[in-house]
Amino acid sequence: MLAKKYRPWLRLLIHIICVAPALWISYQIWLWLNFETHVLTANPIEHITDFTGKWTVRFLLITLSVTPLVKLTKWRLLVYRRLLGLYAFLYGLMHFLNYMVLDYFFDWELIIEDVLERKAITFGMLALVGLLILAATSFKFAVKKLGKKWQKLHRLIYPLTIFAVTHNYMMVKADVLIPTIHAIILAMLLSYRLYMYVQINKNSNKIRIA
Ligand code: HEM
Repeated sequence: MLAKKYRPWLRLLIHIICVAPALWISYQIWLWLNFETHVLTANPIEHITDFTGKWTVRFLLITLSVTPLVKLTKWRLLVYRRLLGLYAFLYGLMHFLNYMVLDYFFDWELIIEDVLERKAITFGMLALVGLLILAATSFKFAVKKLGKKWQKLHRLIYPLTIFAVTHNYMMVKADVLIPTIHAIILAMLLSYRLYMYVQINKNSNKIRIA
C-alpha cells in the first residue's frame, strides 16, 4: 500500500524546481520592460510564448509520467501528481496571459476570431480550458463533492494533453524536432495506460469467471 504522506523536503524541492522557470522568465520580462539588458532575443513576445508553452507541455508530460513511474519503481510519488498538474496550469496561464496582454493587448474581438479561425489556436484553447477545469476541481472540497465522478473527470488530462501536443506541433515554425519528441513521449505514455487498462480488465474477467 502506498503511503499518502508528503515528505515536506521533497515537496519543497519540487516547488523550487517547478517555480524556477516562471521566476526566471518573470525576471527577464521585468528587465525588458525596464529597458535593461535581457535574454528575450529581438522578439521578446515570441520568446516568452515559446518558453511558457514548452514548459506547459513538459509539465503535462511529467504529470502523466508519475503513475507509470510509481508502478515501475514503487516510489511514493503519487501524492505529488496534483502539484505537478497545477504547475502545468500555471505555465499554461502565463502562456495565454502573454498572448492576451502583450500580443493582442486585450483585443477580445481579434482573440475570439483567432481562436475560432486558426485550428492550431483552437487546439491550444481546448487544452487550456481542460487544464482550467482540472485545476478548479483539484482541491479537497471538489474531490469530496464529485465523489466517483472526480476520477472520470480527471481523465480529461489525456485528451487535453493530445490537444496541447497537437497545438505545439502546429505552432512550431521551422524545426519540428521538439514537438516530435513531445508526441513520441505522449504516445508511449498513452500506450502504457492502454496496456494497463487491458491488463486490469483481463484480470477482473478472470476473477468473475473463477
Ligand atoms: C495548455 C495549453 C497550451 C500549450 C501546452 C501550448 C504550447 C505551446 C508551445 C509549446 C508553443 C511553442 C511552439 C514553438 O516551439 O515554436 C506555443 C506557441 C504558441 N501558442 Fe500555445 N499552448 C497552449 C495554449 C495556447 C492558447 C490558449 C493560445 C492562445 C489563445 C496559444 C497561443 C500560441 C501562439 C500564438 C503561439 C506562437 C507563438 C509565436 O510563435 O510567436 N497557446 N504554444
